[in-house]
Amino acid sequence: MRKPCNFTLYYSLFVTFMIMFVVVNSQLTTDFYAKTCPSVLKVVRKEVQNAIKNEMRMAASLLRLHFHDCFVNGCDGSLLLDGNSTTSEKFAAGNINSARGFEVIDNIKKAVEDACSGVVSCADILAIAARDSVLLSGGPTWKVRLGRRDGLIGNVSGANSGLPAPFHSLNTIISMFQVVGLNVTDVVSLSGAHTIGLAKCATFDNRLTNFSGSGGPDTTLDTTLVTELQNLCPSTSDGNNTAPLDRNSTDLFDNHYFKNLLNQRGLLESDQILYSSNDAIPTTKTLVETYSNSSSVFFSDFVNSMIKMGNISPLTGSNGEIRKNCRVIN
Ligand code: HEM
Ligand SMILES: *[C@@H]1O[C@H](CO)[C@@H](O)[C@H](O)[C@H]1NC(C)=O
Ligand SMILES: *[C@@H]1O[C@H](CO)[C@@H](O)[C@H](O)[C@H]1NC(C)=O
Ligand SMILES: *[C@@H]1O[C@H](CO)[C@@H](O)[C@H](O)[C@H]1NC(C)=O
Ligand SMILES: *[C@@H]1O[C@H](CO)[C@@H](O)[C@H](O)[C@H]1NC(C)=O
Ligand SMILES: *[C@@H]1O[C@H](CO)[C@@H](O)[C@H](O)[C@H]1NC(C)=O
Ligand SMILES: *[C@@H]1O[C@H](CO)[C@@H](O)[C@H](O)[C@H]1NC(C)=O
Ligand SMILES: *[C@@H]1O[C@H](CO)[C@@H](O)[C@H](O)[C@H]1NC(C)=O
Repeated sequence: MRKPCNFTLYYSLFVTFMIMFVVVNSQLTTDFYAKTCPSVLKVVRKEVQNAIKNEMRMAASLLRLHFHDCFVNGCDGSLLLDGNSTTSEKFAAGNINSARGFEVIDNIKKAVEDACSGVVSCADILAIAARDSVLLSGGPTWKVRLGRRDGLIGNVSGANSGLPAPFHSLNTIISMFQVVGLNVTDVVSLSGAHTIGLAKCATFDNRLTNFSGSGGPDTTLDTTLVTELQNLCPSTSDGNNTAPLDRNSTDLFDNHYFKNLLNQRGLLESDQILYSSNDAIPTTKTLVETYSNSSSVFFSDFVNSMIKMGNISPLTGSNGEIRKNCRVIN
């Protein structure tokens, strides 16, 4: 047997240090575009404002896009790439006929390109638009960390396996968050995003009749709400009717989502599971109670979790590219 040559040893040490270097240097910064595109925050804000004026729900849709981007190959704009069912994440189970707002992202990108061409990534635009959407819906604000670059591929299988579904168990959801470095606090605080926006019957109508073969509706769903939702979602419909995730204040980013959970009025099974059912764990129950009592604790935890989510595996330095058009690689 030959001794492993020194070159191999030194080379692998070198690669190890390079990887550490990249990890250490992958920090995003709030002033990333201060010199190269000082107007970017203003430009994005104006476009988000226009989009929301046109349709209030768009705030929710834009917030969700950032989440679905970050959970698949990190926050790299991969969700925005067009393609077919083997190349584009738009065809993955959690996105098809569901993820929306891509035209708004196109408009924002155009406005940003007009202001500073070839400088700002689509991944950063998603992060800024999500922040603005929360703020313009009455929620908290924060300084967005920037400097992400755009990925070169869509990961359909990654989207199919990495995006939580409403019928997943709490354990499955928690582990999907753990895979991307988020913990149980992040699961609960970020689920509070469901204080705005809508969901299709297809995402909750399994709760309305013969839930899990029980013969009746989900017993953790308020019976009045069951009747209302049964009327909205008859078995003859195509599942495309929509219900507000937070019926008390659909367009307002507040802590009512958590108050609903105390009253068995969570819309999705994955919402109510945080508080009711045998699945709920003490940590999630306590957080739901805390957030329902205090919107300021909810807001500050939500901001912390949004920043953590925005930091998931960004491409930085010379990795990836700055896409010219968010739908296609350069
Ligand atoms: C915890 C696991 C989660 C599950 C299982 C889940 C599931 C869903 C489902 C099924 C819908 C309805 C989609 C449709 O009917 O087309 C939805 C909507 C939404 N989700 Fe989540 N979600 C989760 C976490 C999150 C997170 C972390 C965020 C953001 C931080 C988020 C933000 C939203 C928003 C804002 C909407 C409304 C979108 C609109 O009206 O266009 N969700 N979610
Ligand atoms: C999807 O697009 C890729 C790249 O354009 C192509 O190679 C592949 O054949 C297409 N697949 C399907 C199922 O259309
Ligand atoms: C797609 O996502 C999966 C799950 O995160 C990951 O294991 C895989 O490496 C990704 N594929 C590519 C080509 O990035
Ligand atoms: C989750 O992480 C945050 C830090 O980002 C920490 O403050 C919090 O206590 C953690 N939650 C749990 C349940 O470990
Ligand atoms: C409910 O589902 C179970 C299991 O799928 C089935 O055996 C039962 O007949 C169903 N009950 C009703 C009332 O449809
Ligand atoms: C909703 O509508 C789309 C097209 O408009 C259709 O493809 C889909 O099957 C319908 N149902 C659901 C549950 O999305
Ligand atoms: C929320 O709205 C429901 C009816 O949609 C109502 O029964 C309930 O009292 C409201 N809760 C609060 C705290 O406003
Ligand atoms: C929330 O407030 C209620 C009363 O308003 C109180 O009974 C409960 O202990 C509080 N829960 C938490 C977790 O602070």
